[in-house]
Amino acid sequence: MKHLDADRIQRQLDLEFAYNIHVYDELPSTNDWALASGQHADCCLAEKQSHGRGRRGRRWVSPNNGNIYLSVCWCFDAVPEFLTSLSLLVGVSVCESLQQQGLQKHGLKWPNDILYQGRKLAGILIETRDQLHTVVIGLGLNVNPVAPDSANHKTSWGSLQQFMPKVPDRNALVACLLNGLGDCLSRFQQLQFQDIQSKWQQWDLLQGKTVHLINADKHYQGTVAGIDKQGRILLQQAQGCRAFSSAEVSLRW
Ligand code: BTN
Repeated sequence: MKHLDADRIQRQLDLEFAYNIHVYDELPSTNDWALASGQHADCCLAEKQSHGRGRRGRRWVSPNNGNIYLSVCWCFDAVPEFLTSLSLLVGVSVCESLQQQGLQKHGLKWPNDILYQGRKLAGILIETRDQLHTVVIGLGLNVNPVAPDSANHKTSWGSLQQFMPKVPDRNALVACLLNGLGDCLSRFQQLQFQDIQSKWQQWDLLQGKTVHLINADKHYQGTVAGIDKQGRILLQQAQGCRAFSSAEVSLRW
């Protein structure tokens, strides 16, 4: 397994995004590092995380086995209108980059889990600072199989190595992911909702499917009818269509 190498990554990046790449053998969490940095286009990678964090307070198991643990700090001039839909578009960007690297038939489970044949390959954690002007985008991508997380046993996991005949070089893969993210983040403020919606629809695995949305004490079943401007999922039920945010519910299908 080739080590992550800041210079190799940097050489393959589009210069316009002016990323600063920092590679560590181990960190508690790359998102914590990027949140502390607060510098625009700072990007941090670690071979291992001791306290990797997932969405909804879950942990992200992060052994040193050639996976990708990556965080990018991005400062916007003004808080974008549809900031809550950014997490969906970041998922789209990761799917596009994986497609460029040769993966096929993958897609998104709302809000931004990247799945292949129902197995989770990657997860995204977006956090903010500076009154929402600065976002930190954290990506965990399983290149190699990971031991199941006993705290997250309902998820079925997968890795690139299981689904691609040849796993791409990790430095090239990271550069491709960062170029895609730079493109997504720098255009985000110009996008209309229709643009976001149509990009989402190309990767959405759940449109028209029956799903269960769960929060602490409630359970909603219905058919997925797309997303709204805030990036909420629209659930069609007998009594009508209702929107749910990813902070409110988790999704099972
Ligand atoms: C999820 O729950 O699906 C989101 C997982 C996000 C994990 C990544 S790994 C890099 C970055 N650092 C963290 O502590 N979390 C994110």
